[in-house]
Amino acid sequence: MKQDMIVVLDLGSTENTVLARRIRDLGVYSEIHPHDITVEELKALDNVKGIILNGGENRVVDGRAVEVRPELYDLDYPVISVDYPSSKCETQLKELPDEETLKKFVFDTCGAKANWNMKNFIEDQVELIRRQVGDGKVLLALSGGVDSSVVAALLIKAIGQQLVCVHVNHGLMRKNESESVVQVFRDQLHANLIYVDASERFLGKLENVSDPEQKRKIIGGEFIRVFEEEARKLEGIEFLGQGTIYPDIIESGTKTAKMVKSHHNVGGLPKDLKFKLVEPLKQLFKDEVRACGVEFGLPHSMVYRQPFPGPGLGVRCLGAITRDRLEAVRESDAILREEFEKAGLDKKVWQYFTVVPNFKSVGVKNNARSFDYMVIIRAINTIDAMSATIERVDWDVLQKVTDRILAEVDNVNRVCYDMSPKPPATIEFE
Ligand code: XMP
Repeated sequence: MKQDMIVVLDLGSTENTVLARRIRDLGVYSEIHPHDITVEELKALDNVKGIILNGGENRVVDGRAVEVRPELYDLDYPVISVDYPSSKCETQLKELPDEETLKKFVFDTCGAKANWNMKNFIEDQVELIRRQVGDGKVLLALSGGVDSSVVAALLIKAIGQQLVCVHVNHGLMRKNESESVVQVFRDQLHANLIYVDASERFLGKLENVSDPEQKRKIIGGEFIRVFEEEARKLEGIEFLGQGTIYPDIIESGTKTAKMVKSHHNVGGLPKDLKFKLVEPLKQLFKDEVRACGVEFGLPHSMVYRQPFPGPGLGVRCLGAITRDRLEAVRESDAILREEFEKAGLDKKVWQYFTVVPNFKSVGVKNNARSFDYMVIIRAINTIDAMSATIERVDWDVLQKVTDRILAEVDNVNRVCYDMSPKPPATIEFE
């Protein structure tokens, strides 16, 4: 490993991630580990320079105090405790919000070097992947989202043609999204890419299905079946690449904190596929994944892609999906994205998209009565997607988007702007 590391031991803090982030922001790599890490496990981590015992409100679990193993104090690492009473620890702090104290500990006491950057990360991961995979083959579901795209770029660099990427187009992708995956990975990066156009199969299964949960189940289930069918055609695959990132692991629960939500990648692939996992991004925060994508020269649109639900446009074409409304969602979404980009809003607004409900309203077109669909524009800002506020989009930008949608998108005679925050609304409509 090239990077020096500060280990944060989780003794019940809810701020472990914030602390690890602050250390990484100083240019020093940091990982969070459970309080009961063993000496052997700690020694197996390369280049540890110091340990922070990070206590907090969950210091007592099920009536028992959370403790570190006493042997840890006998090792040669500098140790400080934060909000954790420890008689064996020379430096005990009530809290660590002040930057100077943190810097002093990291650089002066531990002697860590600020060598955490994406170039070193990539070099390390390439070596680790090669060591793990040997001359085996890795299969990767490449959705075109930032995480799977960066994993693909890393794996291509590490093992080239030993990687097999499968891109399943479920027919609910945004305009030109699948084409861009093929263009970047097959044409530019020369990846071994299997492109499966399963649009007809998905749309067939979704015909006349209007219940949102049922739609989601069909899309998720069918995705697994298509992927499995492709995987079974291939021979000698031992590993599965996954775009798991650090928050996925942290949110799935630690020994002192309750689970926030359980994450399953690639739509929860069945266990009987029996692959060993390769998860090279599992220590990265989202912005670091993006920085890694930039280092690889992936397109801006891929690296800074806004969140896009797994079931794709299926959750924005309300009720039973019909081809005309799906096309209206896809085209209006493309117009919205284009105009937001021109107005610089793509860098400001967290998520923006269009929705087409499954009812028509009366309008006038070419001096005659029209009976057509409506496009709803939604643009929101949020930190964690748990709550959201609406973006006060400039009136001229909204007017331009509206004019273009009405002129360029078939079967639409009305455009609305959704003013609802979350709660009580959700971000998506379903
Ligand atoms: P809601 O509608 O619950 O959405 O307020 C919160 C955020 O989650 C995204 N979302 C999904 N992301 N798979 C995903 O990866 C999904 O199935 C899914 N459904 C919703 C949504 O776009 C919003 O950013």
